[in-house]
Amino acid sequence: MPQDFSQRILNWFDQHGRKHLPWQQNITPYSVWISEIMLQQTQVSTVIPYFERFMARFPSVQQLAAAEIDEVLHLWTGLGYYSRARNLHKAAQYVVSHYQGEFPKGQLALTELPGVGRSTAGAIEAIGNRGIATILDGNVKRVLARFHAIEGWPGQTQVEKQLWQVAEQHTPQQRCADYTQAMMDMGATLCTRSKPKCTECPLNNDCRALAENKIADLPGKKPRKTLPIKNSTMYIIADQQGHILLKKRPPQGIWGGLWVLPEFENPDQINQIGDLDGYNPLPGFRHTFSHFHLDIEVMSVTLKNKHPQIMDADDMLWYNYYQPAAIGLAAPVKQLLDRYHEETA
Ligand code: ADE
Ligand code: SF4
Repeated sequence: MPQDFSQRILNWFDQHGRKHLPWQQNITPYSVWISEIMLQQTQVSTVIPYFERFMARFPSVQQLAAAEIDEVLHLWTGLGYYSRARNLHKAAQYVVSHYQGEFPKGQLALTELPGVGRSTAGAIEAIGNRGIATILDGNVKRVLARFHAIEGWPGQTQVEKQLWQVAEQHTPQQRCADYTQAMMDMGATLCTRSKPKCTECPLNNDCRALAENKIADLPGKKPRKTLPIKNSTMYIIADQQGHILLKKRPPQGIWGGLWVLPEFENPDQINQIGDLDGYNPLPGFRHTFSHFHLDIEVMSVTLKNKHPQIMDADDMLWYNYYQPAAIGLAAPVKQLLDRYHEETA
């Protein structure tokens, strides 16, 4: 059965796999390493010109090790995640100082290099050193989580352990380099995150996710962490005509540039706006942002009169609900004003 799995992957690779990418020509451990680091979090089409420029300038690990870090970073400009370039430079110096410029053999030894994790080491070993090694990058995790219906988020230790286990079971003793490339290609071109092309997939007759209709749920998503809770009190301050005081948020941050009900560190500050007629609390509510809950208390305040200088500020206005100004209101403020006017109408 494991034999059969890798055989199907290899047959598919012979017919459909990518074989003409620049890092698939004149393969060395050095070129595999450079391409694998560049391909982390970055698409093939973006990487191609960077890889070609990089290999033209630094054809060997010795030349990379001898370079100024500034020049390495310059060639990396636009690829992002610059720690990758710094680690590349350090690792090149490590290969020169510890291994006389020859990449070490074996997946484990390769993980000593800065920036090289277990899966990247597997790719360098299998493709660059022609050894037997297993990879488990994001693409391969997706294929295997679906094929075996392995539930849970792959970032979780237990889930990752299961995935490594099946990945190793499937790794063939023959043509391990082609198999490695094929698994990456499968994940990138067939078993895509959304709308995988199962009809063209060599694994479709016994893929568990396909049989059990679980493709959309696998691999499992990162569990959402519980959001922190913040508190705020919004003041509905009404003048004698029923106009409501609004304040404009600064352009950056939550509700940037929108108009909201004013908040006060010290409620005595309301006395600067006008003389209080009365106040009473209204029901509060929770508004949830992507990264926190905001529990909002609401206080309704009516004024006997208002001090005129407040209107000089251009981030303040008295809002007429019945002739609303053409301004952007934050969503919960709009809800609150609707509710307030239903109740006071
Ligand atoms: N993504 C990561 N490694 C890759 C490779 N060798 N070929 C294509 N895409 C990849
Ligand atoms: Fe992925 Fe579909 Fe193939 Fe299963 S059958 S491995 S879900 S492409």
